[in-house]
Amino acid sequence: MSSESVHFDLRPNPAPVAAAEREALLVNPGFGRVFTDHMAVIQYTEGRGWHDARIEARTPLQLDPASAVLHYAQEIFEGMKAYRVGDGAVLFRPDANARRFNSSANRMSMPELPEALFLESVKRLVEVDRAWIPTQAGGSLYIRPFMIGTEVFLGVKPSAQYLFMVIASSVGSYFKGGKETVSVWISQNDTRAAKGGTGAAKCGGNYAASLRAQAEAIRNGCDQTLFLDAVERRWVEELGGMNIFFVFDDGSLATPPLEGTILPGITRDSLITLARAQGLTVREAPYAIDQWKTDAASGRLKEAFACGTAAVITPIGKVASPEGSFTIGNPDLGGPVTKRLRATLVDIQLGQAADPHGWVQRVF
Ligand code: PLP
Ligand code: COI
Repeated sequence: MSSESVHFDLRPNPAPVAAAEREALLVNPGFGRVFTDHMAVIQYTEGRGWHDARIEARTPLQLDPASAVLHYAQEIFEGMKAYRVGDGAVLFRPDANARRFNSSANRMSMPELPEALFLESVKRLVEVDRAWIPTQAGGSLYIRPFMIGTEVFLGVKPSAQYLFMVIASSVGSYFKGGKETVSVWISQNDTRAAKGGTGAAKCGGNYAASLRAQAEAIRNGCDQTLFLDAVERRWVEELGGMNIFFVFDDGSLATPPLEGTILPGITRDSLITLARAQGLTVREAPYAIDQWKTDAASGRLKEAFACGTAAVITPIGKVASPEGSFTIGNPDLGGPVTKRLRATLVDIQLGQAADPHGWVQRVF
């Protein structure tokens, strides 16, 4: 199937969730537990390409127990959000998600999906499940496109068959209780990625490998795990599911560089662009954990924040490890630069500010 000849078979869910039940679910949906009535599905077969695109009722999958993904983890995903704007809905930089999906596919020896097909799947799902987009402040429809290898074969090789799917979840804040700031725990033994590995790909395996460190963070009273580089165990890389920024007393910002070991976040990229447009200096440069501690103590470092689709922009108040902890600025409140950047980004995403970069796409 070429992207020019996209035909989606629309099979409406014959038994959607009743309106009253849906409304009740939307009051306080949390993150990732409330799902919509439909899903998008496209199949891929080697030699034939992408075929059988459908929007249909969300339902459990039937997979042969020898399906490739269940053994060798050929799985990639994306995370993006649709926002309510008036009577319509918008997506933020969905083309960037489509491109990153293909770069992840490439790393995992999976077939690329034409960008038009990716975008069409997402837009059609948002359209058909429009009633599930929360309307309250901070609410959105979190969209999860993903692809799995489905060939029934136990030999180690790229699968000859794949399933691309999109599901959607009505969400509020990622962090429980909608806290102002989060605390991070420096992962002691586990690293996330090494050069040449899969750190820049959004593959499920990266997250599986992060769970032990994340559990360690929670055990130590922190919200997220902070990964250091795999070689020197010194350079700050990113959090389990977010990129990281630092704000200094001269008003400049810094964020770890893209050298193949961290996810090239779309929020990260957007914030670099927005901050520079506001006249701020942004360095994409390595920052050492011991320097962070020194700078937090001296006051040279004023703010730090995590950013990503799920987390939006969340200030980091505390950094902890077995050697002790240190705080940044007022550990319970975000700093002014973080707040301003967050407002700038969110206003663009919600159509409340001019969109000079053409990032927002209307779905309906
Ligand atoms: N880093 C990791 C490991 C992530 O899972 C995410 C979330 O997608 C990000 C960074 C932020 O990426 P984005 O801003 O594109 O959501
Ligand atoms: C996102 O922000 O979209 C993520 O993927 C982070 C996490 C939910 C895995």
